[in-house]
Amino acid sequence: MPFEFHNLDYMRTLYILLTTIWLLLPSYAPNNFAVVFGGGKPIDLGRNFVDGSRLLGNGKTIRGFIAGGLGGLLVAHIQLIIENLLDLNIYSSLVYTSFLGIVIALAFGALIGDMVGSFIKRRLKVKRGGKIPLLDQLDFLVFALLAASLVTDFATLFTPPVIIAAFIITPLLHIITNFIAYKWGLKEVPW
Ligand code: CTP
Ligand code: MG
Repeated sequence: MPFEFHNLDYMRTLYILLTTIWLLLPSYAPNNFAVVFGGGKPIDLGRNFVDGSRLLGNGKTIRGFIAGGLGGLLVAHIQLIIENLLDLNIYSSLVYTSFLGIVIALAFGALIGDMVGSFIKRRLKVKRGGKIPLLDQLDFLVFALLAASLVTDFATLFTPPVIIAAFIITPLLHIITNFIAYKWGLKEVPW
């Protein structure tokens, strides 16, 4: 009965999509916390690279980095509490040290990837806030996953379907959330 089989595929796909978003929240949160709590002294301290353009630019601040990292860890721990309340077993299937290692890597990997993205943008003479499609949306994800992949138990949660889903969902979610942040006046441009 092909109809039932289709339904099963649909449920499985939906399950993977939702699990992927859940697993990636600790890497999505830092950018949002940085947008809200960032500002002040830039990480590059205003310095230029050898090409005469800023190293990273005023969009990457020390406060944003710290608030982003702490925000990612906060969100991850709230997720752990929610999983326990709802009897879900995603992050809570890991021993705490593995969980902590993975979410630290996801949060700080995302922030570092975002800085790498800005470094590349400045080398290409793209001004702060200027957009480069896909680079803006995937720089943080690549570094978050690379960093997390070094931690024990990464592969038990981040299976190949999850990784594939991550690269499809992330640009879409990034566009939607940045547009909302722009509408709320938290960002100067909608990307
Ligand atoms: N932000 C911050 N510190 C960070 C990352 C982000 O303070 N480490 C804040 C800045 O206010 C920044 C905003 O979050 O403007 C949005 O981040 P993002 O889009 O990554 O920076 P842009 O301003 O677009 O700069 P860039 O062109 O370098 O990406
Ligand atoms: Mg930007």
